[in-house]
Amino acid sequence: MISDTAVRQHLQSGGLIEHEGEMSPAYKQELIRILTVSGDTELVSAPAYWHAARNAPSTNAMVSALAIIQDELSHAHIAYHLLEDLGVDKEWLIYERRPIQFKYPYAFDVPLESWYELVTANALYDQAGYVLLGDIYHHTSYAPWKRALAKVDKEESFHLRHGQNWMRRIAQTAEGREQLQKCVDWQFYLTVEWFGLPDSMKIHSGQLDYRLKGYTNDQLRQNWMRVVVPFLESIGVKVKAHHDKTSDTFVLDYHLPVEFDEAGKRWLFDQPITWDDVMVRWRRRGPANEQHIGNVQRGFKQLSALGLNGKH
Ligand SMILES: [Fe+2]
Ligand SMILES: [Fe+2]
Repeated sequence: MISDTAVRQHLQSGGLIEHEGEMSPAYKQELIRILTVSGDTELVSAPAYWHAARNAPSTNAMVSALAIIQDELSHAHIAYHLLEDLGVDKEWLIYERRPIQFKYPYAFDVPLESWYELVTANALYDQAGYVLLGDIYHHTSYAPWKRALAKVDKEESFHLRHGQNWMRRIAQTAEGREQLQKCVDWQFYLTVEWFGLPDSMKIHSGQLDYRLKGYTNDQLRQNWMRVVVPFLESIGVKVKAHHDKTSDTFVLDYHLPVEFDEAGKRWLFDQPITWDDVMVRWRRRGPANEQHIGNVQRGFKQLSALGLNGKH
C-alpha cells in the first residue's frame, strides 16, 4: 500500500491502478464499496428476472430470458472475483450475508411478475446498468475492472435491445400499449430514483475523487433519460418528463422524490418526501429482498447441510 497523496497524484496525471500494491487504504475501501454494489446488482437481477421469466409467452421467449439471466450471473462473478483478489471472502459475500446486507438498488426489491414487467425492466433497468457500467468502463482508474467490462458492456446492450424490441412489438396494439403503460407507471420512476441524490445535495464523492467512475448522479440520470424518454414516446407510452430545448436536457415533471406504495406498485405523486425518507425505505429494503437472496442462497445452504460444498 502507498500513501493517499501519492495515489491522488498518480490519478490526477491520468494514471491507472493495476494491483493492491498501488492503492492507498482509502482507495481500496472505495473500490470494494463500488464493486460490491456492482456485483450485488448483477446477482440479484438473476432471481428477479427469473421470477418473471417463468411467465414467458413462448419457449423462444423463455430461452432469451434465460440467456440474459446467465449473463447477469457471469457479470456478478466478474465483480466478486475482483473482490476476491482484494481479499474479500467470496463465499461470505454471496452465501453468508443476510439479505438486508446486500447493496443493490431498491428497484430489484419490487417483484417483477409478468412478461410485460420483465421486458420493461430490460429496457429501463438494463439501460440504467448500461449507463452506469459504461461510465465505469470508460472512466475507471482500476485497470482490471476496465478490461473485464468490455464483455459486460456488449452483453448489457443485448439485454436492453431485447427489452426495446419486445416493447415495440407489444405496443403495436392498443391493449399492449395499455399493459406497458401500467409497467412504466411504476418502473420508470423507480429507475429515476435509482440514480440517487441530486448533485446539489451530494456533498462529496470518494468514487469521483478516485476516478472509480466519471459522471455524477445527475449526469448519469440525464444520460439514461436521453435514451429512455424518446424511446417510450416513440412507442406511445407516456412519462412525466420532457425535453427542454433551451438547455437540451430532460426535465422531470414531478417532485423527486415522492412517496411509493410498494405493495400496490404505485407512486403517490401528490405526496412529496425527502431523500432522507428514501434512504430509510432503501435501507429497510423492499418486499422481494428475502425471497430473491433466499433463492440464490438456498441450494448452497442445502448442500452445506449435507457436507457437499467442497472447496475447489
Ligand atoms: Fe449485467
Ligand atoms: Fe443486464
